[in-house]
Amino acid sequence: MNHACLLTALGVYTPEHRLTNAELCTMVDTSDEWITSRTGICSRRRLAPEESTATMGLAAAKRALQSSGIQPQDLSHIIVATCTPDKLCPSTACIIAGSLGAPSCMAFDINAACSGYLYGVSLCRSILAGQPDATILFIAAEAMTRRMNWNDRSTCVLFGDGATASIFSATAEQPLAQVRDVLCDADCSLHSLITIGGGAEKELPAGQSIEDDFFLQMQGREVFKHAVRRMAEACKTLLERNGLTIHDIDLLVPHQANMRIIDAVGSRLGIASSKVFANVEQYGNTSAASVPLALAEALQTQVLSHGKRVLCVSFGAGLTWSALLLDF
Ligand code: ACO
Repeated sequence: MNHACLLTALGVYTPEHRLTNAELCTMVDTSDEWITSRTGICSRRRLAPEESTATMGLAAAKRALQSSGIQPQDLSHIIVATCTPDKLCPSTACIIAGSLGAPSCMAFDINAACSGYLYGVSLCRSILAGQPDATILFIAAEAMTRRMNWNDRSTCVLFGDGATASIFSATAEQPLAQVRDVLCDADCSLHSLITIGGGAEKELPAGQSIEDDFFLQMQGREVFKHAVRRMAEACKTLLERNGLTIHDIDLLVPHQANMRIIDAVGSRLGIASSKVFANVEQYGNTSAASVPLALAEALQTQVLSHGKRVLCVSFGAGLTWSALLLDF
């Protein structure tokens, strides 16, 4: 028997500080003109010193739980998608579960970089297929600015911080959306194109200073080409296997990395720009949080409402990519 995978709540937290292009120009050799013309980004959020991926995820989780009426003790799983966890160990999910007071649940992180939300939705769907009574709190949270090299203008202007929390279950009286299908893929021969170091890969003798590979490094131009091609292909494959065409889609919600990538994917798919949702201008690339932040804003501004069919698509380090069909 096939069990539904229903999105029943979506909570959001974004930090107060809006780091504008003008402020960035005081930190790094760049210009508002370069950033807006190459990326479409005007500002991004930057977390405060006392905040972290876990505190942002917790704030989003509390909002999702409050809107759904679900109690922390009702959760069977807490999963966090992030490539900027608070610590290598324990998982950010365990830190959040402890703070939430969810005494007994399965808690762990996943890392598919910017594809983290869509990969996580696929995982939630599989969990619900085998365990239909599960109630999953799925958080996508990133503190990207903590891993920016403020001397590398080709990357530090692109990323921002934020968190979302989604609740998935197989039954719900008034779900926000139903997952219709999801496709996840990767080309891991290209894993070196986007990296964040600082793991256990090499010895760090006491007193050694942090090296550049501690921060996000990206071969932007190369990534750009793969991103456009893979996102468009994934959308086409997913539509085809569901007997749909792009004309059946009410809203395309792509990963918010760069307005030029969003436009190029939209035009390859042949979808009207009025049906493509973008908020990269205000948030930059929030990695795993990017697609659900965009979904939440589309809902809040009523661009998205009951009865709409949505196609989401993401792309990130790995290289990973994914496409998702949601019926609202
Ligand atoms: N300000 C001013 N000049 C800059 C800046 C800046 N912030 N950054 C780069 N430049 C300069 C470069 O030095 C270069 O100058 P040169 O020609 O004198 O050498 C020039 O601008 C062009 O640089 P490019 O890197 O070729 O610029 P491009 O048009 O490719 O844009 C960008 C760069 C925005 C990074 C683009 O390649 C991109 O968006 N790539 C994809 C990123 C992405 O999608 N990532 C998703 C995954 S991220 C994840 O998974 C965590």
